[in-house]
Amino acid sequence: MTNSNTYDVLIIGSGGAGLSLALRLADQAQILVLSKVSLNSGSTYHAQGGISAVLDANDSIESHVKDTLNAGAGLCDRETVQITVSQGKKNIEWLKKQGVEFTVQQSIDGKTTFHLNREGGHSHRRIVHTADATGKAVSLTLIERNRQHPNITLLENHNVIDLVTNHHEKYSEQRIQGAYVLDTLNNRVKSIAAKIVILATGGASKVYLYSTNPDISTGDGIALAWRAGCRVSNMEFMQFHPTCLYHPKERSFLISEAIRGEGGRLILPDGSAFMHHYDSRKELAPRDIVARAIDNEIKKYGIDCVYLDISHKPASFIRQHFPTIYQQCLSLGIDITQQPIPVVPAAHYTCGGVITDHNARTDILGLYAVGEVACTGLHGANRMASNSLLECLVFAERAATDISKQLPTSPEPFLIPDWDESQVSDSDEEVVVSHNWDELRRFMWDYVGIVRTNKRLSRAMHRIDLLKVEIAEYYGNFRVTSDLLELRNLVIVAELIVRSAQQRKESRGLHFTQDYPETDNSKPPQNTILVPEIKQ
Ligand code: FAD
Ligand code: SIN
Repeated sequence: MTNSNTYDVLIIGSGGAGLSLALRLADQAQILVLSKVSLNSGSTYHAQGGISAVLDANDSIESHVKDTLNAGAGLCDRETVQITVSQGKKNIEWLKKQGVEFTVQQSIDGKTTFHLNREGGHSHRRIVHTADATGKAVSLTLIERNRQHPNITLLENHNVIDLVTNHHEKYSEQRIQGAYVLDTLNNRVKSIAAKIVILATGGASKVYLYSTNPDISTGDGIALAWRAGCRVSNMEFMQFHPTCLYHPKERSFLISEAIRGEGGRLILPDGSAFMHHYDSRKELAPRDIVARAIDNEIKKYGIDCVYLDISHKPASFIRQHFPTIYQQCLSLGIDITQQPIPVVPAAHYTCGGVITDHNARTDILGLYAVGEVACTGLHGANRMASNSLLECLVFAERAATDISKQLPTSPEPFLIPDWDESQVSDSDEEVVVSHNWDELRRFMWDYVGIVRTNKRLSRAMHRIDLLKVEIAEYYGNFRVTSDLLELRNLVIVAELIVRSAQQRKESRGLHFTQDYPETDNSKPPQNTILVPEIKQ
């Protein structure tokens, strides 16, 4: 007997990481790319500001490295930063070759160059972009190029339940074999075997009630890797974007940092500025500082939101540079050329994740992790704006190079047993799942948000322990659905965040706790590494 669904390479995720990796490998391998819902369901499609790269003659790799290390508050891996930053230009050129149309400008001598945005933490203009919808341009182009390649199969509405691994006789270590996948349109679980599997599943910000992320960001890849035996790192560093639109009809629309880069000012309801009280870089301080400042002002004055004002700029400039944000706000009755935008911080980016090396390898042979799911060491305790898409591209390329060397000697995967549904029935109480989803995301927001305390963290952990038991029982008795699978992953992610936060007895970067408000400079900064029980 052989596996009916066998590929050389299985890529889980169709965002910037997954799709660029597929293209880089496709001439040498049969590839299957899975997406939980549509191909453009990931964060990549929603990216606004752009991609950081050193492209200006006055800028330098050293400066980009220095800014990244500064934002990362002592926890970046210097070598990873150097590798990533130095590959920026090359990867932007690659995207351009794929057909991505970036915004350009004419210099005085008639030359066409990339128009570069400025964002928080960057000491130069270095963000390549397509107006304020960079992710859409990247996503649609990569999807199109993937569709055209004969060696790439793209499957939407396929939700990976668990990875399948075992100990290969040729290796003493654990090796990947494939995955169990729920075909959500046909309600059928498939076994998919592959020599190499890549997690490109994005982040976990949906673990919080308010988030800028699309619905898919439930940390599945982190939970899949953890259950399979991979270590994860730095999960306490969840990034809150300072400026998410505050509107009852639209709770997750991002107002790009590029608006602050063009002079947008943060103000209170009475029109007074406040960022100068917190940091000399004011609105362009790194995100952790700006988000905490806004959180503090909101709590101090008991207000619902603060405001971001760009209306002092000419209306034509605003409409040209920020067409998506302008239109979206206008559709909600806010004319950003005339009035300030109500904003609040919201969960945005997962700095921690599955531990990977410089070639995106995880702890399991044949299993790679690329993009927001991974912890490469680039972001340390706080990611600098627009470094994420850069990381997706650079590590997709590095993983592809490594995989193409591994493939010729990678063993055929073993026969994966069929999914066993003999012990389960259809759920009679879906409300358990929806209730637990809401409860989890609410207490994570209230107790494990921008400002933490020991007491709040232990309250959250207590609830996580109860939910884990309930969810495991539900999972054991009923047929799987997408909502149940995501909930099962979210509770693991929540636990990893809280455990990591509890281990860090200081405030650093994105992790701020009132019980240890200072950064501990008495010893070298340490990553928080969690090891799953099966590995201990
Ligand atoms: P994603 O693009 O999130 O893709 C994840 C994929 O995995 C999806 O296809 C999803 O369906 C699939 N998936 C997940 N779980 C499963 C499963 N169980 N089974 C099957 N498939 C699964 N970064 C920048 O650098 N610059 C920016 O300007 C910028 N702007 C942003 C704006 C917004 C609103 C947001 C939310 C993020 C922004 N970021 C930005 C961050 C950046 O967009 C993301 O970190 C990056 O796009 C992540 O890419 P990815 O390929 O790792 O994951
Ligand atoms: C933004 O445009 O503000 C988002 C940039 C990012 O998250 O890197």
